[in-house]
Amino acid sequence: MIRKCLFPVAGYGTRFLPATKSMPKEMLPVVNKPLVQYGVEEAIEAGMTNCAFVTGRGKRSIADHFDISYELEHQIAGSSKESLLSSIRDVIDHGVFTMVRQREMLGLGHAVLTGEPLIGPEPFGMVLSDDLCVNPGGPGVLGQMAELFRQFRCSIVAVQEVAPEEIHKYGVIAGESMRDGLYRVERMVEKPSAEEAPSNLAIIGRYILTPDIFDIIRETEPGASGEIQITDALQRQARDGCVMAYKFEGQRFDCGSVPGFVEATNHVYEHIYSD
Ligand code: UTP
Repeated sequence: MIRKCLFPVAGYGTRFLPATKSMPKEMLPVVNKPLVQYGVEEAIEAGMTNCAFVTGRGKRSIADHFDISYELEHQIAGSSKESLLSSIRDVIDHGVFTMVRQREMLGLGHAVLTGEPLIGPEPFGMVLSDDLCVNPGGPGVLGQMAELFRQFRCSIVAVQEVAPEEIHKYGVIAGESMRDGLYRVERMVEKPSAEEAPSNLAIIGRYILTPDIFDIIRETEPGASGEIQITDALQRQARDGCVMAYKFEGQRFDCGSVPGFVEATNHVYEHIYSD
């Protein structure tokens, strides 16, 4: 049973400036719920009730969101508006929320390492809340991956087929197909050109990681951009041990980009939101 989930939320969200100047990208609402709450709900549904955030400066509102607001609760107690708080109350009641700050944005690999004191020596989930994943009527993507972990006991990355003109934005895997939608990763390439890409299977923001990843990251040199990439560490884990790639069931929206965010908003409003 995986109990913990890491949420690296330290990034600047520059693609959403000026909205993200003094407000975390993760708190931008998709309809009426902040992006990060979708990810936390998915983790809790998967049994990962211990949510660990790697935050940064200017991200305090994320911690406040997963806490009680006495003033607000007092104001609306007993009124018809009280029910509007129910979804976040459910989350708060079912989860434990811990935070650590990443002082410098040195890459996703570095963010994972910063989260180590909150995770410890156990396998854990990881959600990049920029990716909003939905699977109406079935288990969430992280829940599907937790089920696979029970079987394979190794790190798992969620992958999605991506068009050639989009592939340069992603980490891309090459792997041996184990069964429909499941691959044993042989190689990973970070942000390849369409010509260099070893497949059309791009890694999205859902992971299950085994704790040996921390030592591997510690030994991983920063890449060309000066950032410590999680893909480099996973590539070594795949070479020395095992990493699986899983083509998940459901739909994913890239809410780290403005068009993806708008698409997600339209989808949630039409298919999921109810007032
Ligand atoms: P991105 O690079 O996509 O997010 O990182 P960003 O930097 O916030 O967005 P833009 O490009 O400036 O608009 C992917 C995820 O990794 C986290 C980010 O918060 C995001 O969820 N991250 C990245 C960290 O927590 N720390 C880092 O050093 C880098």
